[in-house]
Parts: sequence; structure tokens; C-alpha cells
Amino acid sequence: MSEHLNIAIDGPSGAGKSTLAKAVASALQIRYLDTGSMYRAMALFATRRGVSVSDEAGLRTILDDADIRVEYDERGQRVLIGDEDVTDVLRTQELAMGASTVSAHPCVREKLAELQREVGRNYDVVMDGRDITTNVLPHTRHKFFVTASPEVRAERRLKELRARGSMQETYEQVLADIKLRDHNDSTRAYMPLRQTEDSLRIDTSEMTIDEALTTLLNAIAEKQDR
Ligand code: DC
Repeated sequence: MSEHLNIAIDGPSGAGKSTLAKAVASALQIRYLDTGSMYRAMALFATRRGVSVSDEAGLRTILDDADIRVEYDERGQRVLIGDEDVTDVLRTQELAMGASTVSAHPCVREKLAELQREVGRNYDVVMDGRDITTNVLPHTRHKFFVTASPEVRAERRLKELRARGSMQETYEQVLADIKLRDHNDSTRAYMPLRQTEDSLRIDTSEMTIDEALTTLLNAIAEKQDR
């Protein structure tokens, strides 16, 4: 078990996990590890190598070359493939879907989960993803399942896209995309997204970020005191 403070947050896409995890990290002055970005980097690496994100055998052949690393600077977490900082190109819909597909392969998950555990062993950190409570940090007492209804998540996502000047997506498309990723992430055979019995469930559908953050920080403080 890690000597460090390890906080694990799982939940479906667009539930507010990363906003909350970043706020927790900043309130507690600890690191934030966005594990989804590592799966996105893996999808990018495979695509560049001409390997399909659904080709398990092909992925195995390039896995040892996939030098995916995480570093921190004043901007926060950076994701590198070798020496190249790819952080700013990872947040596309294609790579989100690619990450969802590539993450179903046990060989990919084993590799990335081990890198994530290493961060937990070395630093105080809050991590968010789909298998943090179940697989990456199963021994921590700070476990959370952050969720919201698919409709609320689609509305939030659409707002975000509009704010970035992207006008072509419709609400229906965004909702369908969210439901497809939920389905992929929670029905895959290996390490699907699921809520553990000892996770505190936070449904953000009807909550402000501040309310959710207070709930999280109180729960962390309570368990630290024990
Ligand atoms: O959190 P995100 O949208 O960046 O994640 C992209 C995809 O990566 C998501 O659909 C499922 C996968 N993922 C995963 O399987 N396990 C994690 N710990 C994080 C992400």
C-alpha cells in the first residue's frame, strides 16, 4: 500500500470527474493524474503506427515502443510520447472514441495501469478514470464514483463544444456518442467501469461543482482523521 495520499475517482465520461479532481488536487496541493489522457495517447500512437485501435495482435507488437510518459510543469500534467509533448492534441472526439476502443485490450490496460500505480507509489495524487477504484488504487480508502445522467452530461458537453466555437454537433449526436462510450466502457470484459461497494457515489446531475467539491473534500478529511 502507498504511503502517500491516493484519491481514486471513477465514473462515466462527462460527469465532471476531471473538473472535480483538478479542484481537489488544487485544494489539497497534490498532483492530478488524468488517466484518460494516457489511453488517448495510446490511441494516437497506434494510429500513427498504422495499427488499428481494435487490433489486439497489432497493438501487442507496438506496445514496447509506446513510451508514454507523464510529466508536470507550471501548466499541470503533460503527456509525452517519447520526447514529444502531445497533451494539446489529445482532446478530440476521434481520440476519445479511439481511447475507448484501445482501452478494452488487457495488454494496453496492464501497461498503463502499472505506470499509474507508480505515480501513486511516489506522490500524493488524485487520479480519475474508469478503473482507478477497482484496479489501479484498490487499496486506498478514498474512493469515489462521480456520475450524472446521460442527458445532463450531453448538455454540458454541448455547451463546452459551443464555447470552443464548434457549432456542427447536435444534442442528439452528442448524447448518442456519450451512450455509446458508456456502453463500451461498462460492458468490456476486462476491467469494466463499475462502482465498488466502498466508493462514495456523487451524482452531479443536480449539483453545482462547489457542492460536489465540498462533499468530496469532507469525505476525504473524515477518512484521513480515522
Ligand atoms: O476520461 P477520457 O474521456 O479522457 O477517457 C477516454 C477513454 O479512455 C474512455 O472512454 C475510457 C478509457 N479509459 C479507461 O478505460 N480507463 C481509464 N482509467 C481512463 C480512461
